[in-house]
Amino acid sequence: DGTTSTLSDSSSNSDEDADAVIFSKGDLTINGSGTLNIDAKKNNGIKANDSLHVYNVDEEEVEKEAVTIDWDAEAAEKAGYEHFMLKEMYEQPKTVADTLSPRIKGNDIVIEELGMSDAELLSIKKIHIVACGSAYHAGVTGKYVLEGLARIPVEVDLASEFRYRNPILEDGAMVVVISQSGETADTLAALRESKKRGFKVLGIVNVVGSSIARESDNVMYTWAGPEIAVATTKAYSAQLIALYLLAMKFARVKHTVTETEFSDMLGDLARLPDQIELLLNNKNRIQRFANRYIAAKDVFFIGRGIDYAISMEGSLKLKEISYIHSEAYAAGELKHGTISLIEEGTLVASVSTQPALYKKTISNMVEVKSRGAFVLAVTCEGNREIEKASDYVIYIPQTNPFFTNSLAIIPLQLFSYYVAVGKGCDVDKPRNLAKSVTVE
Ligand code: G6P
Repeated sequence: DGTTSTLSDSSSNSDEDADAVIFSKGDLTINGSGTLNIDAKKNNGIKANDSLHVYNVDEEEVEKEAVTIDWDAEAAEKAGYEHFMLKEMYEQPKTVADTLSPRIKGNDIVIEELGMSDAELLSIKKIHIVACGSAYHAGVTGKYVLEGLARIPVEVDLASEFRYRNPILEDGAMVVVISQSGETADTLAALRESKKRGFKVLGIVNVVGSSIARESDNVMYTWAGPEIAVATTKAYSAQLIALYLLAMKFARVKHTVTETEFSDMLGDLARLPDQIELLLNNKNRIQRFANRYIAAKDVFFIGRGIDYAISMEGSLKLKEISYIHSEAYAAGELKHGTISLIEEGTLVASVSTQPALYKKTISNMVEVKSRGAFVLAVTCEGNREIEKASDYVIYIPQTNPFFTNSLAIIPLQLFSYYVAVGKGCDVDKPRNLAKSVTVE
């Protein structure tokens, strides 16, 4: 449209489809007005009609082709929703379907972007997942799913830890970095460290053309579209799907699941968008419940296995946008400390979606309830036994236990959202937080 901006994150552009030139670190440009040093924090004042010459640090001219960033202007508007976060939560059925459908071909999963043959997949002996924030929580779920379905050992690291801990990466290891923005400084540094040591990196990234997408050896995009609210919802949901697909791909190649199990799982994946929709339609009930906790000082989230991973994300959502102190605990750890914090009326959100762990978690719920906690249970339909151990129950539809995170997170997102709205917080732009953490 005749104007030019320099952006560190293309999703912060608010124009319609825009032509973009993607710069690399250290690039210098010369246009009609002289030499420019590309600095993400400044608008360098390039005009649309200026001819643009780009040089690398060795002062060699480099060819830069303009790419069109497919920007849907409507996606950057609230479309009648009160907040971007609410709108983005409501986009989750589509996001999940968009991330799934291009990779499901008949009764198979095809992830061309992996760039690996079946033989190469079979040679992977260990996976290191590295990420920050919610992407890290998606990674923790990924560990349970990859190990459970494909029997591959997985280590999950916070990128800020991985980059400085001199991690042991052995032959046959594969590094997977997860990032919505593709610009998170610690995740990018972890990626570079892995590549420096000669390991291939798969990026699970949302923003097309971002630094992490460009520097990863292979990129599996999450098709969540632009996410504006600082607290991620739809991109997190899409990351989960990418990880399920990866786990199922490995499982099929390694024959760790039967053909029947595999097709049943494909059926369960295909049903997720409608099931998410159903849970979103339940928002009024969750809003009424959330209104009772606007004044809460502390909230605890407990769960075992995948439910622990869901609890971590549920707890982060609440503290990010409502400023209520919250913590996630592996339910079995309660008696090693946290139980001393339970007082009359303390809210404990217990996630129990794993049939093999129901009974164990129920006994933890009974323990906190008998010490005065108000227990909110998130569990699967049919698990009526839980009602005796809780004060309020939210049921999620039945699905494969490896996929329950995609459903259980929905009421937890809605709960955090309505607590924050009830408190009058700036939901889309919480204090002290940034959408893309591009500095350490
Ligand atoms: C920030 C955002 C979080 C996000 C994290 C990692 O803290 O507020 O929502 O999970 O960064 O960001 P990334 O873009 O790498 O997924």
